[in-house]
Order: sequence, then structure tokens, then C-alpha cells
Amino acid sequence: MKPLVDTPTPIEMPKSPPVVETFDLGKFYRTGFWMNQKIESLKSCTLSVCEGETFGLLGQNGAGKTTLLKTLLGIVKPTSGRALLLGKPLGDRAVKQRVGYLPENPYFYDYLTGWEFLQFVAGLFQIPVSVQRQRIPHLLDLVGLAQSAATKKQLRQYSKGMLQRIGMAQALINNPEVVFLDEPMSGLDPMGRYQMREIILSLKSQGKTIFFNSHILSDVEKICDRVAILAKGELICMGAIDQLLGNTKTYRVQGKGGHLNILQKWIPDLEVDNDLWYGHLQGEPKDFVATVSRTGGQLIGMNLAKPSLEEFFMQQLEERGIYPTFRRCDRPIEYF
Ligand SMILES: Nc1ncnc2c1ncn2[C@@H]1O[C@H](COP(=O)(O)OP(=O)(O)OP(=O)(O)O)[C@@H](O)[C@H]1O
Ligand SMILES: [Mg+2]
Repeated sequence: MKPLVDTPTPIEMPKSPPVVETFDLGKFYRTGFWMNQKIESLKSCTLSVCEGETFGLLGQNGAGKTTLLKTLLGIVKPTSGRALLLGKPLGDRAVKQRVGYLPENPYFYDYLTGWEFLQFVAGLFQIPVSVQRQRIPHLLDLVGLAQSAATKKQLRQYSKGMLQRIGMAQALINNPEVVFLDEPMSGLDPMGRYQMREIILSLKSQGKTIFFNSHILSDVEKICDRVAILAKGELICMGAIDQLLGNTKTYRVQGKGGHLNILQKWIPDLEVDNDLWYGHLQGEPKDFVATVSRTGGQLIGMNLAKPSLEEFFMQQLEERGIYPTFRRCDRPIEYF
């Protein structure tokens, strides 16, 4: 099957100005004792994210999502191509003031309290103390961290979810225009995930641009305007969720009567239950409807079978020959 959406075209882009633009961006890491082995983590990646968009980057473990984020933030240097962030080349210091970042594995100073940590980060952005006094409690409320925990507990005593929340608070301390979030839902309980989604939506309503990586496709489906899928460092598709999921013109049909032999040609996965038949249509719907009535059948239902983002994601990977690497374990694990 042909890819549903190929590389982005100018027609596809929303009208607001681009905040992130990459042009054939590539990155390989050198590894090994002699640094003579190359790991190509990002291959010729071209994308554009516009102001006010919520953009989700999906991909398997090791697909290159974090590498792309780190490259955009100037943490790692690209080995080919170029990119612009807020209209400036990567690494621009003034741009860093306008950007927020929640790393995938943030490093925290164990012996600081959450409050002290936020004061420290605010200091890096040269935020006046009077502003800090108002902003820190507000951010703690926003991310759902009790002020008592933030002032009394050291970060080494925080749970995974509490650390994720304080990480989100520090990403927003400078009131950024663009927020990069590397797996913001990681480690959160269902309430925390809901809260994180609400935070992202409220940032969006303030006109901020959000670029985030996630494995939780149901969350991505709920909050993103556009998504892109990375596979082995390559962007394999990109577009608005409705456009991606709606493009699969597969209909699920249900009916009764008619010639099953003829119907089978239209419905390869035809199943019959008493006098009802159903399955997925392959072919032109108009011609199919005509065939059913010509052969004396009756069509009961025909609905667009819209896949979930998860089904779409799996389908995209499978079309490129990427299958799950696990083997179903049907016998006890052998210990030696
Ligand atoms: N500093 C590094 N040195 C060498 N290889 C690296 C380095 N960082 C990442 N890689 C490699 O680059 C590839 C992409 O890694 P990356 O962390 O970007 O993936 P990811 O999509 O974020 O994965 P995950 O979903 O597990 O976070 C992997 O093969 C990884 O081993
Ligand atoms: Mg990652």
C-alpha cells in the first residue's frame, strides 16, 4: 500500500508563522573505543511546526525522537542539514530564553527541595525574586504538587510522578513561547496524565507552541493538532490526525442475502453469521452497492472504518517492514 502522507508539502502547513523548521536534518553518533562506529539516529528530517500548534512526535524506542528534540534545543549538534527555532539558527542564546524543556530523564539536585530547585531554575532565567514568589506557587498548583511537599521534601524523597511534575513546573518557569516535552506523561498515574493533558491544552489555549514526544498514543490523539512518525531515524509520515486517520478509505459493510461468491470478491474477509454477512469492503463503494442490489442482497450498514492512532501507527511500521521483535511466550521461561 502507498504511504498515506509523504513528506510535508507547503499546502499542508497552517498559516501561522513557523516556530520550528528543519531542513534535511541528520545526526549520527560516533561510538566504540576508537569512535569509529556510527549510529545514524536521524536521517534527512524535514518538518515544520507552526505557532500555536501542538505537535506530537511518535516512534518506537530508539527511533530518534529524543535526538531530534536535543538537536533542536542545541544540546547535540546535527551532522547534516540545518534547522531554525523561532526563526533563528539552532543554539541562539536569546531564543533559549523563550523556550521551555522537560527532558526525558531530567537530572535533579537531590538535596534541594522542589521549591529551591524552581528558585534555582528561575535564577538561571534571571527572573526577579518578586516574580518568582508569585510564579512558583502558581506553577506548583498547576502541576498538582502540594506546597508543603515542595518546601519540606528534598528531591531525593520525591516519587517518580512528583519528579515529573516538578520537571514540568521548571519547563514553564520562564513563561516560554515554545515548550519541548520529552515524554511528559511518563511515570504519571491516570489522574496525573489527565492533569498533564489539561496543562498542555491550557498552554495551547494561551497560544504557546508545544512539541512533544510520547508513546501514549491515546493521549496524543486527544491533544495533538498534527503528528509525525519517526522510524529508524526517518520521518515516515506527518499530518493532521484527522487527515491521517480519515485517509484510510476502508468501509465496514454489513448486509444479508445476495451471492456470497460474488460478495467474497468485494469483501476478502467476509464472515457469515446466520443470514447476515459482514467484513471490510475493497473497491468502489458505489459499484459495490449496485452489485449487492443486482444480486438480490440487502445492504444494512456501511461505515467508514476509521482506525485508532495506535492501529495507524502499527500499520505504518508494518508497511515498512518493521514488526514487533518480541516472541509470544507460550511456555514457561527456562532458567539455566
Ligand atoms: N549519546 C549517544 N551516543 C550514541 N548513540 C546514541 C546516543 N544517544 C542516542 N543514541 C542512539 O540513537 C538512537 C536514537 O536514540 P533516541 O534516544 O533519540 O531514541 P528515542 O526515539 O528517543 O527512544 P525512546 O523512545 O526509547 O526514548 C538509538 O539507537 C540510540 O542508541
Ligand atoms: Mg527518547
